[in-house]
Amino acid sequence: MTDSPAPLLELRDISKSYGQVQALRDVSFTVGKGETVGLFGDNGAGKSTLVKIMAGVERADAGSIFWEGKPAPLGSRRASAELGIEPIYQDGALCESMPIWRNVFLGREDTVRGGFLRTRRMRDAASDILRSDIEIGAHIDTDRLVSELSGGQRQAVAIARAVHFKRSLLLLDEPTSALAVRETEALLGYVRRLRDEGVSSVLITHNLHQAYQVCERFVVMSRGRVSLDAARDEVTLADLTNRVLDQ
Ligand SMILES: Nc1ncnc2c1ncn2[C@@H]1O[C@H](COP(=O)(O)OP(=O)(O)O)[C@@H](O)[C@H]1O
Ligand SMILES: [Mg+2]
Repeated sequence: MTDSPAPLLELRDISKSYGQVQALRDVSFTVGKGETVGLFGDNGAGKSTLVKIMAGVERADAGSIFWEGKPAPLGSRRASAELGIEPIYQDGALCESMPIWRNVFLGREDTVRGGFLRTRRMRDAASDILRSDIEIGAHIDTDRLVSELSGGQRQAVAIARAVHFKRSLLLLDEPTSALAVRETEALLGYVRRLRDEGVSSVLITHNLHQAYQVCERFVVMSRGRVSLDAARDEVTLADLTNRVLDQ
């Protein structure tokens, strides 16, 4: 018996090829409950492939996956969603032509018998969520269309959705690359607050400085392998920067 609990999600010796390209080679990766892990590496290192396997949109060729210590053969979006794993896409996942409140409830609509939407309830709930859970601001009218929102506001909606539906692991693949400075700060703020509420995150970014502010552990990938896995107190920002640049 050890006194450390099983990680929330553990990937062990994962390999994945696309035709001749081996995107992942024997990759092991863990995320603890309420832990924020920064995932770094050059373009083509395999970061997105790894999170796609967690999200269930790609299937590993080899290796095993555990959720809270128990085998969890992911491989479909549905299987991942049932565990509470939620990818926060840069845009794609939201429906542009629908209002914010519809997007918060997309795919999980609140209906009465007969399938009619409980419009009023969902609208009110969406306002509450955006105001209190993550504070993207009371000034955003949830009747506005997603197509009118900035990149940061869209991500806030996606995050609001994840929070409301009590997701347990958020996957953020370069979420800040298209954001303005203030939006980036806000997004990192949400990740921090979610962590305080016990939600785990995997954050992929090229901005090590930002990641160093919010992540507790750092994993560096290089050509499909993990080249560094270190806790925050084991590496300085300078060490980390060198490790990523050395690849
Ligand atoms: N759908 C795909 N088909 C073919 N090759 C792919 C596909 N997705 C990723 N790859 C290849 O797998 C490797 C890892 O890609 P990726 O996981 O996207 O890296 P990263 O996110 O670190 O930039 C790259 O060589 C990339 O070209
Ligand atoms: Mg990528």
